[in-house]
Amino acid sequence: MRTAFTDLVGVPHPIVGFNRSPGVVAAVTNAGGFGVLGASAYTPAELDAQLTWIEERTGGKPYGVDLLVPEKFAAGDPDNLVASLRAQIPAGHLAFVAGLLDRYGIPEITRSPGLGAEHDEIAASLNPAGAGALLDVAFRHRISLIASALGPPPPGLVARAKTAGVAVAALVGQPKHAVRQIEAGVDLLIAQGTEAGGHTGTIATMVLTPEIVDIAAGRPVLAAGGIASGRQMAAALALGASGVWCGSIWLCSEEDVANQAIKDKFLQATSSDTLRSPTRTGKPARQLRSAWHDEWEKSGSPAPLPLPLQPMLVDEAWQRIDAAARAGHEGALRLESFYVGQVVGSFEQLRPAGEITRQIVAECEQRIRDLADLTPGATS
Ligand SMILES: Cc1cc2nc3c(=O)[nH]c(=O)nc-3n(C[C@H](O)[C@H](O)[C@H](O)COP(=O)(O)O)c2cc1C
Repeated sequence: MRTAFTDLVGVPHPIVGFNRSPGVVAAVTNAGGFGVLGASAYTPAELDAQLTWIEERTGGKPYGVDLLVPEKFAAGDPDNLVASLRAQIPAGHLAFVAGLLDRYGIPEITRSPGLGAEHDEIAASLNPAGAGALLDVAFRHRISLIASALGPPPPGLVARAKTAGVAVAALVGQPKHAVRQIEAGVDLLIAQGTEAGGHTGTIATMVLTPEIVDIAAGRPVLAAGGIASGRQMAAALALGASGVWCGSIWLCSEEDVANQAIKDKFLQATSSDTLRSPTRTGKPARQLRSAWHDEWEKSGSPAPLPLPLQPMLVDEAWQRIDAAARAGHEGALRLESFYVGQVVGSFEQLRPAGEITRQIVAECEQRIRDLADLTPGATS
């Protein structure tokens, strides 16, 4: 399959695998798709190690990196960033989260010194300046594409990428976002519909994709949100997309690093079991509904804080919930959740990411042939 996207990055199949696990990124790339590593959960040193690992296993095949660069974020004192942000978290919010964990009996975790501080650093760096350190690492590697979400690319990124011969992509959830990204100079737009896992808007992929294709005026567009099968990939191509950007489907791959407790919950879930909630990051993000969300929706619960204060408030709670859920703790299993899109309802079993990639592509190609059979005798 040859499209504007396969030409742009030089891959055989127009399918992107977005994931935070380097094993998924390498597997998708090795299967002829394009793996993209979500870098936002890593420190610069960790990102460096992950990209080296991917490169050692992909033999020169193309892959990319994705950063979260929020346009709107709570500012702190640059000389004392973590402490000045922490000081903005109201005591009532801290008490609410502590009380929630107590009610579900979530045990404390023993951890190596400094780990909590590291998570604070990562959350506090969710701003254009913090993204700069991750970008420096990414550009030291042989990436073919750099993507950013939640706002325009960070300052200098487009010029730097052009010099390095790296394509710049941006996730957009509304037509006006696409216009701004084109003005900023991006090479590739990702039209991400509300079905998607993670931060997402309110417009469905079926409506958004053709809108963005029209605005892009010949620039390649990938469709994202609700694509986990060859039928859905064929539909995206029919809407005018040059390929698909998939995130959720890899959560049911063997290489994904999520714990088995959440993978089991995903395998049980239906397409109605997700919601958009700002309770993890401060911005609406689609995730699996759990008792965590019920608690935040009760009257008297505090309103979520802006990014990055909300992740600083809840990240340690999530480490405790994840650890207890892994050990089969009943209360933790009720709270356990993670970002995932509506396609979670189609998850049947864990499979290798390369096999998932090949199956989606083969099914898409078959679907396109089947569609051609609907108009026998038609000439192109
Ligand atoms: C677990 C998870 C984490 C995500 N984190 C990010 C992120 O850090 N940056 C980003 O640009 N998109 C992120 N996304 C969105 C994906 O890039 C992608 O657009 C989305 O998953 C596509 O829709 P789908 O989930 O229906 O496949 C995330 C998605 C998931 C499922």
